[in-house]
Amino acid sequence: MTSYRKSHIGAGVGERYDAKHAIRVDALIWNDFVKPQVRKEFEHAASEGAASYLDFACGTGRLLKLGHTVFGESVGIDISENMLMVAQRRVPDAQLKCVDVTRSPPSDIGCFDCVSMFRFILNAEPELRRDALKWIADHMNRGATLIVNNHRNSASISGFFSRLAFWLPKDAKNILSRREMVEILRVAGFSLVRCEGFRILPSIFGRPLFGRKLQVRGERLCRRMGLGRFGAELVMVAMRD
Ligand SMILES: C[S@@+](CC[C@H](N)C(=O)[O-])C[C@H]1O[C@@H](n2cnc3c(N)ncnc32)[C@H](O)[C@@H]1O
Repeated sequence: MTSYRKSHIGAGVGERYDAKHAIRVDALIWNDFVKPQVRKEFEHAASEGAASYLDFACGTGRLLKLGHTVFGESVGIDISENMLMVAQRRVPDAQLKCVDVTRSPPSDIGCFDCVSMFRFILNAEPELRRDALKWIADHMNRGATLIVNNHRNSASISGFFSRLAFWLPKDAKNILSRREMVEILRVAGFSLVRCEGFRILPSIFGRPLFGRKLQVRGERLCRRMGLGRFGAELVMVAMRD
């Protein structure tokens, strides 16, 4: 099995990654739901005194940009130079490090009060996931905030269809339950504080089923009805024990 470390390496991968997600329902859910939610979490952490911010596996920098706006400074870590090139353009003032902390941990990085880690835990193989979370936990102050996502919740409609899709390669069928996420976090030294679910309605090959406007309205309605736990994307806020 190839390591997830190699998944986003190569010329033009950053541009392709952004272009692919821009036309999918993910972009709509990010803009209308997840981004405002994460901003609220960052602002909450900042109001409690958090000052130093890290986006782990920052990719092309969508979280990094948001965190940078709230905290006024940011560090982004990723293993892919090509993803980081796009992040650099998006957040020119961020401190970006192209490093695999699980293999060559940098010595001069310090401790963080708030860390985000999106679209990583689900697809990273268990050892990489464990080692990355351990490094993060070792570089966070007690009581610091970790914000992560699980972008294919097994209790969602898309999680259900992933199980049935026998023609897909194994890594495209990765799913995790809320309980598995909580356990992964617990083992790494974090306690869950809050969990919100998004992308409740299904999509067809990643495109909105009912058109943009209706999909957003439908999502809003589903969330109001308390169906967040069936969302394909779970956003979890955890505290460093
Ligand atoms: C799906 S992208 C997510 C990017 C960004 N967090 C987002 O949500 O848009 C996953 C990222 O994890 C990075 N990655 C994989 N292995 C890594 C490692 N060992 N250390 C840091 N980043 C890694 C990849 O290079 C890629 O940019």
